[in-house]
Amino acid sequence: MDRLDLFPLSAKIKNDFLTIAGQDLAKLAEEYGTPLYLYDRATLDASVDDYKKALASHYPSTGFRQAQPTNSGQRPASASVTYAGKAFLCTAIAQWTQMHGLHVDCTGEGEIAIAMAGGVPREHILVHGVNKSTADLKSALQHAGTIVVDNLTELKTLESDSLLSKRRKQASALQIWLRLLPGIAVDTHHAHTLTGQHDSKFGMTREEILEAATFCKNNNLPLNGIHFHQGSNFRDASPLKAAIERGLDLAKEIGFNDDWHFSPGGGWGVTYHEDELPHPSIENYVRGIAEAVIEGCSQRGLSLPHLHLEPGRSLVARAGVAVYKVGAIKRRGDKVWILIDGGMTDNPRHALYGARYSCLPVAGVGGESGVLSLSKQSEKISIAGPYCESGDVIIEDLPMPYIKEGDLIAIPMSGAYHLSMSSNYNGSCRPAVVWLEDGKANMIVRRETADDLLKRDFGL
Ligand SMILES: Cc1ncc(COP(=O)(O)O)c(C=O)c1O
Repeated sequence: MDRLDLFPLSAKIKNDFLTIAGQDLAKLAEEYGTPLYLYDRATLDASVDDYKKALASHYPSTGFRQAQPTNSGQRPASASVTYAGKAFLCTAIAQWTQMHGLHVDCTGEGEIAIAMAGGVPREHILVHGVNKSTADLKSALQHAGTIVVDNLTELKTLESDSLLSKRRKQASALQIWLRLLPGIAVDTHHAHTLTGQHDSKFGMTREEILEAATFCKNNNLPLNGIHFHQGSNFRDASPLKAAIERGLDLAKEIGFNDDWHFSPGGGWGVTYHEDELPHPSIENYVRGIAEAVIEGCSQRGLSLPHLHLEPGRSLVARAGVAVYKVGAIKRRGDKVWILIDGGMTDNPRHALYGARYSCLPVAGVGGESGVLSLSKQSEKISIAGPYCESGDVIIEDLPMPYIKEGDLIAIPMSGAYHLSMSSNYNGSCRPAVVWLEDGKANMIVRRETADDLLKRDFGL
């Protein structure tokens, strides 16, 4: 795979300089400083389109958006895409989700607040969380259309909340779904990105789900859906089939009929490095799920559910690029350390899971000495940040042409689980985020300052 194919769809090389959406990255770095995160609207839109088209072709009679009741009063099945906000959420991204009519999965009150700031309507807000706090549940009851219950304790807390009766009286319905622990692993390449294996902390076992369903029935709670999520960044979707069957078995046992919801979560993978296979096909993933749901429902005599997919990474990872400035360069034995001005505080994925990345210099990209024609002069470099941890590394042993102090580098596939997992370690300030669209650049999140760090720090 070509290294440039890891970059957003609009990435081009013009006169040896890397551009995205027609914008010169060197100029953007000069204007907004580094580290800098860029999001390409065209790539974001294209990934949503891939999901919508695949659902429209493989989940029949759905139409894409929430379907309207038919004349007979029965609702036809529908499908929707729910953006998993944990991949990266800010007001602009929330606004963008509504340009496409997406639902938004929010983990807790913070993400609910951001979704609301971006104008996500209640019926599009779905709340997840493995051990939701009282504040999370209150916020969900006030502002969300769907709460996905993770455990029995949470269900009981929800039932006892005084907001529930208020919510019941409101016209807009509240939906409660139960999160199943399918007990089936997918291959995510790292234990920390698995969630559906038998000993996972997430969700409920079959027995717990049945107990929760009885609790909902006895307490008149609006239960109408089953959800599971097996893990993140897998590219072989075959283990989903068995998990879908477990979910459908439970739907049958609970007695779901018309107008019920089924979500096999998200987790579809992306390609981070040119050594890997090309970007996995969203259509194949969606087709596999749709076929398993249709076949499984027909075998069990179940009506087709409203099908919800919950992608995060596969919607936003490729749209994001991180730009850094090279500081010192150190040679230590066989290692060449390129030290940059960001690292594990804006992208902890290498430190957390050994994630592999690639990169291009921002200038001198093409041409004879450029990285796209890696010449004899190229050598393997490792890229590390300025923070006080030996694990503060982003890239290890990547062939690159000559890089010198003061150069800019761009790391592709930086749109998911970077800034949403960022920290202020070493008192670092989080980067600005710039939105690129039709040759225009627009700052959507400003760089953090030391004043921001002191805002909630009162001293003695
Ligand atoms: C419940 C749930 N849904 C969806 C996702 C999205 O996963 P991904 O970004 O890999 O698509 C996650 C991520 O861990 C999740 O926990």
